[in-house]
Amino acid sequence: MRISVIGCGYLGAVHAASMAQLGHDVVGIEVDVPKAELLASGKAPFHEPGFDELLSSSLASGRLRFSSAMADAAGSQVHFVCVGTPQKRGEYAADLRYVESATESLLEVLAPGELVVGKSTVPVGTAARLADLVTGKVPGALLAWNPEFLREGFAVQDTLHPDRLVYGLPAGADGETARALLDEVYAAIVADGTPQVVTDYATAEMVKTAANSFLATKISFINAMAELCEATGADVKQLADAIGYDDRIGRKFLNAGLGFGGGCLPKDIRAFMARAGELGADQALTFLREVDNINMRRRIRMVELAREVCDGSLLGKRIAVLGAAFKPDSDDIRDSPALNVAAQLQLQGATVRVTDPAAGDNIRRSWPQLDVVDTAEEAAARADAVLVLTEWKQFRELDPVAFGQVVARKAVLDGRQALDRDTWVAAGWSYRALGRRAG
Ligand code: UDX
Repeated sequence: MRISVIGCGYLGAVHAASMAQLGHDVVGIEVDVPKAELLASGKAPFHEPGFDELLSSSLASGRLRFSSAMADAAGSQVHFVCVGTPQKRGEYAADLRYVESATESLLEVLAPGELVVGKSTVPVGTAARLADLVTGKVPGALLAWNPEFLREGFAVQDTLHPDRLVYGLPAGADGETARALLDEVYAAIVADGTPQVVTDYATAEMVKTAANSFLATKISFINAMAELCEATGADVKQLADAIGYDDRIGRKFLNAGLGFGGGCLPKDIRAFMARAGELGADQALTFLREVDNINMRRRIRMVELAREVCDGSLLGKRIAVLGAAFKPDSDDIRDSPALNVAAQLQLQGATVRVTDPAAGDNIRRSWPQLDVVDTAEEAAARADAVLVLTEWKQFRELDPVAFGQVVARKAVLDGRQALDRDTWVAAGWSYRALGRRAG
């Protein structure tokens, strides 16, 4: 099939290359000319395991190209809209300007019989509004909503082997036509037996925000338990293991620590609350405000712990921050809990050195006030405390004996349950972690 992907940021670039991998003829439309050129040259503008290989092989197959001109989307049977929906500045609501402008410029080249497919995370009600716009301007064209659930660090696998496909469709014959087109796009994935949920626009839009809200709630639940563990001397890791053995609860997403960040969970729960308010249903989601509060409190607690191990004052203390991306295997620093902590430490007078295996350039660009170094050893040189704030494999595998030689004081704070407490304690370190006994 001929497919266009409008917006080649994180989601769109991975989607475009994956669709080419499935055998389709794909054009990725990206208004940022340098980004489109970079992608066309086979270079990924972000760090994502497996994506470079996927991009190169899709380009080499001749089935994938990139352009900055919407005119090149003309003639595609299916057009995926993959632009971002960030949080509005100073508000909880999602900023829909990119979705709206991408759809409007697509309408200039859209033809009857073609299908527009929204993949961006949007407030419920957006698809119905865009469908009116599409059919009003191009009678005979169709719109579907097909949310994307990919995780950074697993984006390629999640796109080619998703847990489920969700189609939000118009009623009647148009819905049947849209479904048939989507089934053709995803033929290989459907043939794998991937579950499909075929529904209306509103449900499809809500599936995404509900899923992210559930995940955020699960993380904040275990972090609330961590607060209780700190108050009682209990151990949150063992608690999570024990409750996680119950299939109904499950162990995944019960890792207590510095909490969630990134470009999705924080802004999605806030946008969901804002939309519920507009719909007069804000009471249904007031718990999400608490989910957000618990999450933000972990960052403050981490700074308190650092102050405690620095004898009550951070002024003039050297602190090493290991990890800055919002999660490992990513260079994404959007709403990074680690950088938030680093900045707070600096504000309280500490000399902070940050290192991250992938996010260094992004930190230098967006946080010029932070001192970024290349290795954990450089960051920790003569440090009074070492904070592990993103659980990269490189940090998990540090040898506490050798690493102990570079610091001034062997004090480690494990913000992500990344280290084996006993090994570090045996090497002479004092070990502190959120929700766990000191070692
Ligand atoms: C999330 C959803 O998982 C994905 O389905 C959706 O499409 C986009 O948003 P992502 O933002 O890539 O994906 O990251 P995710 O793996 O969900 O982690 C989000 C944050 O939660 C990270 O900061 C991570 O460190 C944190 N987290 C995750 C925890 O603190 N504890 C956990 O147990 C799991």
